[in-house]
Amino acid sequence: MVKKYRIAVLPGDGVGREVIPEALKVLDSAAEAVGGLDFDYVEVPCGGKYYLKTGLEWPDDGFETCRGADAILFGAVGWPKAVLPSGQLAGIGILLDLRFGLDLYANVRPAKLYDGVECFVKGKEAGDVDFVIVRENTEGLYAPIKGSLERGGKREVAVDVRVLTRKGCERVIDYAFRLCLSRRGAAVDGKRRVTCVDKSNVLEGCRFFRKVFDEVAEKYGSVEKDYVYVDAMTQWMIRTPERYDVIVTTNMFGDILSDLSSVLIGGMGMAPSGNVGDEHAMFEPVHGSAPDIAGREVANPIGAILSAKMMLEWLAQKHKDEACRKAAEAIERGVADVLADGKIRTQDLCYGRYADVKPSKTSAVGDAIAQRIRKMEN
Ligand code: NAI
Ligand code: MG
Repeated sequence: MVKKYRIAVLPGDGVGREVIPEALKVLDSAAEAVGGLDFDYVEVPCGGKYYLKTGLEWPDDGFETCRGADAILFGAVGWPKAVLPSGQLAGIGILLDLRFGLDLYANVRPAKLYDGVECFVKGKEAGDVDFVIVRENTEGLYAPIKGSLERGGKREVAVDVRVLTRKGCERVIDYAFRLCLSRRGAAVDGKRRVTCVDKSNVLEGCRFFRKVFDEVAEKYGSVEKDYVYVDAMTQWMIRTPERYDVIVTTNMFGDILSDLSSVLIGGMGMAPSGNVGDEHAMFEPVHGSAPDIAGREVANPIGAILSAKMMLEWLAQKHKDEACRKAAEAIERGVADVLADGKIRTQDLCYGRYADVKPSKTSAVGDAIAQRIRKMEN
């Protein structure tokens, strides 16, 4: 019996439109390779360019289409000059609507350095970097509780309120521990470890986050607890990435740390992510629409392809579907093999010992991975 999943696909703007087709190409090749699996893609137009054409960030039924799908695959939004009357970039509201509206509370951002990719940090090789940042995604400093005050026509004060709730902390921390149990431990010693990153020496909210972390950790006796202040973390993560397995933190700290982690894995084009809730999930490469390189077929599709892999892992777990799990494994192997070959890669990976490799187009990288997957024996 073939199991068919309905996937809402939102390529969005700029390189989003170039990398998402490659992710779909690779998904199809994996479905074909493992058998018993099929996808029904429903495209939802959205983003800055769509706004310039229609006056809307996405169609009126966009949210419902996403809610009705089995999973969501997102490219990137944001286009120069596409700005809402409020001053906000057109398209960003969609991401927030989905994160808040579907209660996607865990932002999951793996940082894995593959063989065949040179680390920007000297001396780090594949095998040294393989951790996941789990960032709280629905509250913290990005809770939409904010305001400003004008006096005599001059803006005098601006306030963003940082909100941490017990429910919000508990569920994301619990997610981090469960994720840790499904992994093989930290690169340096194989120990399962969850690192709580906060600023509890200064902030009340962070003291609360750490307290809830300790409470949740009691359920997971086999996992090592670890604590680092966020300022110190920016250097430890770069100096000794091999120490980390799963990192859990609040919204803005996680946003910053996860962009930083991309320097360990070959740059923004390599970084995948998932926004995961109890019922719904949305997967997207970490990078934005990259207007500086859009339209030239040079964008690296691997962040998007690995996001599709994460989507399959999530579907596998939710539906106890072995075919999805195998397809995710096939994508992981396909990406790893093509990178390790060292021949086919986009220009962003042609540096260091790969400086002499002739850069391939975005679609050639997708083709190579899809072909590799089709040739695999299952
Ligand atoms: P960006 O991630 O689009 O680009 C940052 C740098 O990384 C650029 O030099 C770009 O060329 C490079 N880059 C990005 N993706 C790449 C890929 N796949 N392959 C190779 N190189 C890649 O961030 P930036 O420039 O700050 O923002 C551009 C637009 O994207 C803005 O409108 C921003 O608001 C939006 N944005 C949207 C996000 C989303 O949809 N989730 C996330 C971040 C930014
Ligand atoms: Mg960010």
